[in-house]
Amino acid sequence: MQVVREWLKQARSIAALTGAGVSAESGVPTFRGSSGLWKQYRAEDLATPGAFARDSRLVWEWYDWRRGLIAQAQPNAGHRALVQLEERVPSFTLITQNVDGLHELAGSRNVLEVHGSIWNVRCISCARERVDRRTPLPEIPPKCDCGAVLRPGIVWFGEPLPQRVWQDAEAAARTAEVFLLIGTSSVVYPAAGLAQIAKASGARVVEINIAETVLSESIDEFLQGPSGELLPQLIA
Ligand code: OAD
Repeated sequence: MQVVREWLKQARSIAALTGAGVSAESGVPTFRGSSGLWKQYRAEDLATPGAFARDSRLVWEWYDWRRGLIAQAQPNAGHRALVQLEERVPSFTLITQNVDGLHELAGSRNVLEVHGSIWNVRCISCARERVDRRTPLPEIPPKCDCGAVLRPGIVWFGEPLPQRVWQDAEAAARTAEVFLLIGTSSVVYPAAGLAQIAKASGARVVEINIAETVLSESIDEFLQGPSGELLPQLIA
């Protein structure tokens, strides 16, 4: 813990990659693990373009349910610690796989949502994208002004990441002196590859997680515990 504190203090450039674990203490379910969403639901039925083409109502009902859960969630001490860290470091990039928007709600500014946002909706015909925070949605599936069906503005399995956002994420990983890997199982690529990019570019990679992951062996420092407790301690 102490050595990581020193690295953070001295670094001029820090990047962090967060995953569902960061929002777990806000009451947002994670994807993997014993009570994870992918234990109860099949990703193939809900989070792929094929699933949406087959049954857009089913997919939207699931996202509408998740939007309702997320709407009740508040940022936790881990989100807030990352806001404080950003205020202290000359260059700070927060790359998140989370679609819940809790980092922005906490006050983080330089946030890259590499998997999109659950509050964005996009037309499958005219591609118009907008923010819709209504929950529950008044109509399922929701419709665009052009009459076509809207889809969640989320990156599904088998889809590419938004190009510009991804380029910025890669650049942040390449230039970071310290790279924080927080609350992610690091099994979903390409996001999980950012830690390797950072390491190969000379960053110290620090993982914060309640349990070891596939990457824990290959990083510089593993801190075991909930991010809502460890992050405030790290930057205190
Ligand atoms: P996962 O559910 O795969 O992993 C969550 C990680 O958080 C696990 O390693 C847990 O051990 C850890 N964890 C749980 N509670 C924690 C806590 N309080 N503090 C710290 N760590 C904790 O979630 P992601 O890695 O984010 O994709 O999953 C990656 C992607 O897979 C998601 O973005 C999502 C999913 O399919 C899309 O929605 C496109």
